[in-house]
Amino acid sequence: MLLVRDMADERPDIQSLKALREAEAGCTRCPLYKNATQVVPGEGPAHARIMMVGEQPGDQEDLAGKPFVGPAGRVLDRAIADAGIDRKLVFVTNAVKHFKFEPRGKRRLHKRPNAHEIDRCHWWLDIEKTLVKPEIVVALGATAVRSIAGKPLAVGKIRGRFIAMATGGRFLATIHPSYLLRIQDEADKHKQYRMFVDDLVRCREALEHAA
Ligand code: URA
Repeated sequence: MLLVRDMADERPDIQSLKALREAEAGCTRCPLYKNATQVVPGEGPAHARIMMVGEQPGDQEDLAGKPFVGPAGRVLDRAIADAGIDRKLVFVTNAVKHFKFEPRGKRRLHKRPNAHEIDRCHWWLDIEKTLVKPEIVVALGATAVRSIAGKPLAVGKIRGRFIAMATGGRFLATIHPSYLLRIQDEADKHKQYRMFVDDLVRCREALEHAA
């Protein structure tokens, strides 16, 4: 097992997810709060054994104030179910808590968060992890990996392996579900989806063995 740095930051004294949500609502740690509708905090059981970390809220999440309620969320929900994991037992959150976008007419086009935004927002993810204490964190895509590992790592190189976090627990990197939405070829889409589900199955099995 590799040991990666899990950037610790000096933290405010936040003892509950409710207090965390309230603190996140006033976040000005990077400029993204200025254009987003609202912060989108993580959601799920206070002591979930598994935490899934996406990139950032999308258009629908920004409006709803809830993570993974749009198209990528529907793919994620299906994969979680196909992996035999109870969705209600999963804590779902994002590496970056505000929607970053570029206005294009009436549309808001998703923009990938940069390293500074990811690092500034790691503060919140770190507190979420400290409060929830998940045994397994699933990093969905490169932004989540960057946040959790504290440095850029290629998802393709570490995918599907458990990697210890300095703060306890371990993480497993896999693709972001929105990648599946972009695949045009049906056979490839199906293959990549199965690989994604297999990564989640690995997490379920690890929890079953640990139980
Ligand atoms: N993509 C993400 O990474 N997170 C969400 O909440 C929605 C889409």
